[in-house]
Amino acid sequence: MDSLKFPESFAWGASTAAYQIEGGWDADGKGLNIWDTFTHQGGDRVFKNQTGDVACGSYTLWEEDLKCIKQLGLTHYRFSLSWSRLLPDGTTGFINQKGVDYYNKLINNLLAMNVTPLVTLYHFDMPQALEDQGGWKSEKTAEVFEQYAKFCYATFGDRVKLWITINEPYIVAKLGHETGLFAPGIKEPGIGPYRAAHNMIKAHAKAWHAYNTLFKKKQKGHVSIALDSDWAVPLDPKSMDDKEACDRYLQFRLHWFANPIFIDGDYPAVMKSEISRKSKEEGLVTSRLPEFTDEEKSLIKGTADFFCLNYYTSRKVKPLSIKSSGPSFDSDMGAEGIKDPEWPESGVEWLAVVPWGLRRLLAHIKDTFGDPDIYITENGFAQSEPPVLQDKHRWGYFQETLSEVLKAIKQDGVKLKGYFAWSLLDNFEWNSGYSVRFGLFHVDFNQPNLPRTPYFSAIEYAKVVKGNELIYN
Ligand code: NOJ
Repeated sequence: MDSLKFPESFAWGASTAAYQIEGGWDADGKGLNIWDTFTHQGGDRVFKNQTGDVACGSYTLWEEDLKCIKQLGLTHYRFSLSWSRLLPDGTTGFINQKGVDYYNKLINNLLAMNVTPLVTLYHFDMPQALEDQGGWKSEKTAEVFEQYAKFCYATFGDRVKLWITINEPYIVAKLGHETGLFAPGIKEPGIGPYRAAHNMIKAHAKAWHAYNTLFKKKQKGHVSIALDSDWAVPLDPKSMDDKEACDRYLQFRLHWFANPIFIDGDYPAVMKSEISRKSKEEGLVTSRLPEFTDEEKSLIKGTADFFCLNYYTSRKVKPLSIKSSGPSFDSDMGAEGIKDPEWPESGVEWLAVVPWGLRRLLAHIKDTFGDPDIYITENGFAQSEPPVLQDKHRWGYFQETLSEVLKAIKQDGVKLKGYFAWSLLDNFEWNSGYSVRFGLFHVDFNQPNLPRTPYFSAIEYAKVVKGNELIYN
């Protein structure tokens, strides 16, 4: 059936991130990063005080990962570089050659297998030495990030043609700098996330320009940023309050980053007006949302060669019911998202399975951000403990999702270029540790050689990749 076919040269991938799989936290001269520090602090910041010290052991077992990639028949593999493995204190003052060697091996072997690397520069793991100087809260970090990006383009860019600067800046801002649930564990509600986001957007723009002016002509690659978002619908579609809350929900998540980068170099109007109004009520003379200068706006606008979307779930939205005592991101947004109890839940509490939400979100991106080429750089479903190898229900979710993806391409005309499952392997799921399993391959963390075994989903995904079509048995 032709209608189940994906477009020719569709990219089929799986994604991982350095801290979540590599281990080797202090191997061969790697510097500390904020997740090393955060997990080593204990205090139940992470499920059972687990750490990424060993994780999937990919720093030494990378050939095992390549076997998994081969078994899936992937055309693309997305992974991230550990900044502090390459530059132990975050700066180019000292380069850790062993780190460079590691990524060279990985990249060269992927290319030898005909697998295209999609490389993320920053996936949640700020070098601790830079965090000590303010991390994303400091404007200087944007400059240091630009140097790091240039170093990576110069070192790997002869072979890597697809780059992501920063993964999920929303999560970095909100969980890292508002609630403190993620490293660096900063709890500065209503202030921290806006500052961190401001500097991440500038860092991204600088890194994009560095590529564009210094490397693009020769290396001919493409640079983007990976944005995560729920899809959102009003809880009561007839309620004006719910509709407005729903719009704010999307503006404060996806548009916070996508407006500056894809539209006009600036934050969404509703973020500017709401945060400024609230700041005035609090007696502040300036808004808690920093402003971009005109020069910065023109630097930021148009700094993505394609759109990378991480999609997991959707929400029904209504105005916020519980007001916090002080300032907070949620009260600025004035909206809350609710899971429809009808939606199936996967192995993690926040992930309600809503495949049609992805189709709607893709159409929204097409219509709002200039019909860009889009890659789904993450999508997946977790299992909780104990995981089952025969994860038929999970494959069902993948099938439903891929069917919505096909509709987005064929019926809505979305220029979707690829799909990356999260994740290649079960891995360290941040503050949930190893209790949540997103892998296509099961990893036995109790055995010293950390064996990888395909789930049913991996076997079925390989069939889809091979045929470039959705298959129902
Ligand atoms: C998005 C993040 O990029 C990734 O690191 C995480 O494991 C998945 N979501 C699943 O929560």
